[in-house]
Amino acid sequence: VQDRGPGHYFSPSPDSASRPRTIELTLPDVHLQLQTDAGTFSPGAVDAGTKLLLLEGAAPVDQPSQLLDLGCGYGPVALVLAHRAPQATVWAIDVNERARDLCRRNAEAHELANVRVAAPDEVPDDVRFDGVWSNPPIRIGKQALHDLLARWLGRAAPGARAHLVVQRHLGADSLARWLDEQGWPTHRARSRGGYRLLDVVLDPGAGA
Ligand SMILES: C[S@@+](CC[C@H](N)C(=O)[O-])C[C@H]1O[C@@H](n2cnc3c(N)ncnc32)[C@H](O)[C@@H]1O
Repeated sequence: VQDRGPGHYFSPSPDSASRPRTIELTLPDVHLQLQTDAGTFSPGAVDAGTKLLLLEGAAPVDQPSQLLDLGCGYGPVALVLAHRAPQATVWAIDVNERARDLCRRNAEAHELANVRVAAPDEVPDDVRFDGVWSNPPIRIGKQALHDLLARWLGRAAPGARAHLVVQRHLGADSLARWLDEQGWPTHRARSRGGYRLLDVVLDPGAGA
C-alpha cells in the first residue's frame, strides 16, 4: 500500500504533529543518541535494515572523499559514515525538511562537522560521489525509485560503489536486476532477516 499523503515520512513538509523523542543506536564501534520525530522514517527505533547496512555493509574508507547517504532521514547512516570516515564529507540528502533538521541537529550534537545536510537540489552539480549508502525510499513507487537512483548513482566518481539495503518482499531482487540492466553490476552481499544488502559497482570500467 502506498501512502503519498502529506503526513508520510517522505513528504517534503510533514504536517503530522511533532512528537520528539530520543533513541539509541549502538554498534560495536559507535554509540549515538538520535533525536527523532513523527513524520520521519522509523522514529521509534533505528530500522532493522538500516542497522544491517551499518553492521554488515561495507565500511567507508577514511580519506578525503565525497560520500552520499541517499535519503538520510534523521541521520543514522550519515552520522555513522561520518564517524567512521572523519576525513570524508558525507552528503546527507532528503526531501523531508523535518528529517533534514533532525539530521543536522544530530550531527551537531555529536560534533560531526563533516556531515553536509542538504535538500536534493542544493547539492552542487559538480559533486561526484566516491561511495553511496542508502536505505532507499522503496515506498515512493517503482518508477520514482528508479528515477531517484538513476539521478544519484549516475553521479559516481571513478571506482565508486553503492551499498543499498532493501527488503526482499519489497522487491530487492527485481531492483538488483534493474540495476544490472542499467550497466551497474549488482550482487547480493548479504541476505538476512528479510533484508538484502546490495553492492552496486557504479564504475564497471574501473580497474579493467
Ligand atoms: C527508508 S527511509 C531511510 C531513512 C534513513 N536513512 C534511515 O535509515 O533511517 C528513506 C528516506 O528517503 C527519503 N526520500 C524520499 N524521496 C526522496 C528523494 N526524492 N530524494 C531524497 N530523499 C528522498 C525519505 O524522506 C526517507 O527519509
